[in-house]
Formats: sequence, C-alpha cells, structure tokens
Amino acid sequence: MRVLVTGGAGYIGSHTLIELLAADHAPLVVDNFANSSPVALERVAQLTNRVFDHVEASITDTAAIRQVCDEFQPEAVIHFAGLKAVGESGQSPLTYYSTNVGGTIELLKAMDGCGCRRMIFSSSATVYGVADYLPFDEKHPLNPVNPYGRTKFFIEEIIRDWAATDPEKSAMLLRYFNPVGAHQSGRIGEDPNGIPDNLMPYIAQVAVGKRDQLTVFGDDYDTPDGTGVRDYIHVNDLASGHLAALDYAARHAGVEAVNLGTGKGHSVLEVIAAFEQAAGRPIPYTVGPRRPGDIASSHATAARAASLLGWQAGISLEQMCEDTWRWQSRNPEGYSD
Ligand code: NAD
Ligand code: UD1
Repeated sequence: MRVLVTGGAGYIGSHTLIELLAADHAPLVVDNFANSSPVALERVAQLTNRVFDHVEASITDTAAIRQVCDEFQPEAVIHFAGLKAVGESGQSPLTYYSTNVGGTIELLKAMDGCGCRRMIFSSSATVYGVADYLPFDEKHPLNPVNPYGRTKFFIEEIIRDWAATDPEKSAMLLRYFNPVGAHQSGRIGEDPNGIPDNLMPYIAQVAVGKRDQLTVFGDDYDTPDGTGVRDYIHVNDLASGHLAALDYAARHAGVEAVNLGTGKGHSVLEVIAAFEQAAGRPIPYTVGPRRPGDIASSHATAARAASLLGWQAGISLEQMCEDTWRWQSRNPEGYSD
C-alpha cells in the first residue's frame, strides 16, 4: 500500500517505517524535522536495505501537503507529526493547537482532495486524564488535563466528523500508553532535545553519564511502592500495532479508538531496577516532590486491540531497558553522533 507517513523521522515513526518496509508497503515521509533528524531516515533505509523518499515540509503548509497528496496518491496516511511536550503545551498552547489541530485539518483536506480515505492517528492515553477506574478501557470518559492532551482529544473528534462524511472512510485512533525502548540494532531510538521530560530517556542519560542523577517525582502515591505506575510499551510492539491497524482499516470502514498498551503497570522504582540490571551499573536517584499534573497509576486494558486487530504487545520490561541501553550507550549524543 502507498502510505503517507507524517512525522516519520520521529521516534515512533522511524520504528514504524521499518515494519512498513518489511511488510512491502511503500511509504513516503513528510516531516519538517522540528524534533527529529534526517539521519534517522538514512538509518531506516540502511537497516531495511530499502529506498524510500521523504519531503521536508510542515503539515501546516497547505500548498505543500496538497502537492504531496496529489502527487503520491496515498492509499492511507499514518499521522505521527505533531508537538508532544506537555509542559511546553501549557506555555505555548496556541502553537500546539495550530500545529497539532490545524495541521491535522490541512492534512484531512489534502486527503479529501486526492481521495484518500484511511487515517491512522497517533492519539495518546493522556486523553483519559485522571482515572475514574483502572485499567483504562476505550469507553473511559475523556478528560485531558493539559493543552497537549486536549489537542489529541479535539483531533479525535475532528477525525470522527471527517469520517462521518463518507461511509467508506476509515480511521483508527490509536491511544498509546508509554512508548519506550529502541530498535534491537541500536541504530535508531529516542533522541529528545534538551532535558528529557520522560522517565526512560532520563534514566538512560543518567546511565550514560550525561546527567548526574534521576529525581523520582514522589514516593507517596497510593501504589505498591509509592511511586507512579505506568504501562510501558516497547516501540517495536507499538510499530507492529500500526501495521495491524492499517490492515484493519483497509478491511473495515468507520472509526475505532484502540488502546495500544501492554495491560501491565510498572512503578518508577521497578523501571530503575530493570535498567540497572540491563546496563550493569547503578542509577543514582533522589526522591523529590510529585510532578504537578501527574496521576498515580495508568495502565490499559489491551483487550480491544487483541479482539479487533489480533495484536498484542509481547516485549518485556527487561528487553525495553536492554534495547534503550544499547541505543543510548552507542549513541550518547543521539543522531548528532
Ligand atoms: P517525535 O517528536 O519523535 O515525532 C514527531 C515527528 O513529527 C518529528 O519527526 C517531528 O519533526 C515531526 N513534526 C513535528 N511538527 C511537524 C510539522 N508541523 N510538520 C511535519 N512534521 C512535524 O514524537 P514521537 O514520540 O515519535 O510521537 C509521535 C506521535 O505520537 C506524536 O503525535 C505524539 O503526540 C504521539 N504520542 C507520543 C507518545 C510518546 O510518549 N512518545 C505518547 C502518546 C502519543
Ligand atoms: C507523559 C506525559 C503524557 C504522555 C506520556 C506518554 C507529562 C506530564 N505527561 O506522561 O502526556 O501521554 O508521557 O509517554 O509529561 N518520572 C520521574 N522522574 C522523571 C520523569 C518521570 O519520577 O524524571 C515518573 C513520573 O512521575 C511518572 C513516571 O515516571 O510516574 C512516568 O513518567 P513519564 O515518562 O513522564 O510519562 P507519563 O507521566 O505517563
């Protein structure tokens, strides 16, 4: 299938490209490299021994995105492109709305212009907000608590309205839990700009000596060891979930929201211990105050992904840490190395 991949040079996009190429799909990447490097695309090509094109453009550039769609004639779009830093979204909400929401609207218009009726969208478990109950299922009320999360919520609604205009349109709203890990080759992985916001890249940078120590954000939560619990999912599992969603969308019309998680939660202290084991070195940490806006626990029920897509995540926390460490230790400066 000809698949337009927005944000394909990013962390999840680059891993998904490998799966797409392995399954003989024909991807075209659109990325403005706002948070990624073209080196990631070169490495994907090397790892797969396949050639594919990319266009350097913003999804907010109406003319560029229309031209890409008209020339490439995609049969489906996997839409990763967007901004994703929660803290930054509070400081610059309008930038988040114009890039994430506005960019998606331009993309959907361009898809209509070229007759593309399949959309696979990167949503997030953050749309659920504070848990009324756990595990989160797809019927849980949506109550995002920051501008980033609200862009995902609004985009989901916009895609639902877009899909309702044509009975043959299909859209998958994939609600990712916490993607971590890296490709087993150690050649591609997560390369955050500046100080990492998220736990696993922060731990990896402590392990490699770029940061002195981790701060554990609170140990007084109502969880087994008092630290926050999350559903960490290996990025390769996530990538294969996109292939399953693409396959489903090719066979079914309509809109489906689907959690992509493992269904298992791990605490911050469990992740630290698993990483220490994988890296063979201690991870110094101190316990600090809770991070504002954090919730105690979040994990998915992965039942709908299993029944609808025939997909489930299988890669262990140990492997997530080993693969993160291989990537980080071989590329201490990420793609700048
Ligand atoms: P990422 O930042 O690594 O990838 C996003 C890509 O989009 C980057 O390559 C970036 O350069 C590109 N991009 C940004 N703005 C663009 C624009 N205006 N036009 C074209 N390209 C643009 O992030 P990721 O972790 O790979 O996340 C991919 C998607 O999944 C995002 O939509 C994100 O919100 C969503 N998501 C990520 C997580 C996570 O923890 N990583 C969790 C839930 C959902
Ligand atoms: C973050 C995002 C969320 C997004 C999710 C996707 C924030 C506030 N939320 O949430 O919108 O959907 O990633 O992966 O950024 N922790 C520490 N020390 C650190 C970093 C994190 O103790 O330096 C703890 C956190 O308190 C949390 C756990 O580690 O308990 C995981 O944190 P993180 O990786 O940031 O993910 P989320 O909090 O789930």
